[in-house]
Amino acid sequence: GGIVDFYGEHQAGITTPSQNFIMFAAFDLVTVSLDDVRVLFQAWTAAAAAVSRGETVQAESGNENLPPADTGEAAGLSPSRTTITFGVGASFFDSRFGLAARRPAALVDMPAFGGDELRPEWCGGDIGVQVCSDDMQVAFHAVRNLARIGRGKVVLRWTQEGFQRTGAADPAGSTPRNLLGFKDGTGNPDVTDNRLMNEVVWAQPEDGTDWMAGGSYMAVRRIRMRIEVWDRSTLADQEQTFGRHRSSGAPLGSANEFDPIDLNAKDDTGKALIPVRSHVALAHGDGSVRILRRSYSYSSGMDNKTGQLDAGLLFICFNRDSRKQFIPLQQKLGQNDALNEYIVHNGSALFACFPGVRQGGYIGETLF
Ligand code: HEM
Repeated sequence: GGIVDFYGEHQAGITTPSQNFIMFAAFDLVTVSLDDVRVLFQAWTAAAAAVSRGETVQAESGNENLPPADTGEAAGLSPSRTTITFGVGASFFDSRFGLAARRPAALVDMPAFGGDELRPEWCGGDIGVQVCSDDMQVAFHAVRNLARIGRGKVVLRWTQEGFQRTGAADPAGSTPRNLLGFKDGTGNPDVTDNRLMNEVVWAQPEDGTDWMAGGSYMAVRRIRMRIEVWDRSTLADQEQTFGRHRSSGAPLGSANEFDPIDLNAKDDTGKALIPVRSHVALAHGDGSVRILRRSYSYSSGMDNKTGQLDAGLLFICFNRDSRKQFIPLQQKLGQNDALNEYIVHNGSALFACFPGVRQGGYIGETLF
């Protein structure tokens, strides 16, 4: 697979077409020195740029009396369109580094939402790193080496791996299906429309935080699916829950996946074709609040207490200001979404993802 340039106006991994796999990692800083953080971000920049080119994270000295500079498991593997996207959480701006005044107003503490059953082991983090790749081993190698480079300065807080159908299994590249069997991503905004991306995804200079201009806010939710319950519900129930047909992905009452959503459409009896409490009706609303979703399915073995699969959606979305986009959307969904019968949110984090890095620069440079 090809190379996605690490450098650019915006960080890669946001409007980049989704890769096959993700390894998400949240880190906490254990150093209290801002200089340490800067040096770490410089070293991570070099390593991330090298990984995206399919190179080792650092040049090898060849000295057999030292541990190798790179852990080696990605040697000879293609770059696999790997992207590494960095952000910082609200806790990064607490009293440790003297950066409290620079915390973006948009980087709020995530409010509690209806139906949340959050577990601390899947929440928060001073730093969030989204590694996406067409190869899981390449993604793992990236996280492992970032953690290794950061030893003594950061510790891992939580990680989550995820997947979708691979490009090999679906060469046509149709919309991937989530683990509830429905096409997921249909209603996303067009990432090639720069005007729309400036409106929906990229923080703008006039938004009040100069160092975030060109960056984006990443909301991460680990959402477990009650798969066993879902699998006992009827096809009609499932389609009413989403408001779309399972097979085609079309809005209920329409024929094609990308047909427009018409919440006023009624059947012969005067009942809304797309139920008012369906996921799509609520998430679409009047169409004015949009986000860029970039989620992956996850399967993390078995829940030993119940013998059920711990599987679901590692929901990730990018937005320009979560106070106006992700949060009001999730407030609406948490309260009324018919899908809530089948899902439970058990992880949550919000990160301010830096603007892109120019050659010779480093992640977070605009903040320091
Ligand atoms: C649409 C699944 C959670 C926001 C959809 C669609 C599916 C889906 C199948 C229809 C196809 C599409 O447009 O992609 C799920 C599942 C979830 C989940 C299984 C949890 C496990 C969320 C969350 C949010 C969200 C937490 C945001 C707070 C949206 C939006 C749309 C959408 C904005 C597009 C609506 C439109 O057409 O304008 N989702 N979703 N979803 N979902 Fe979700």
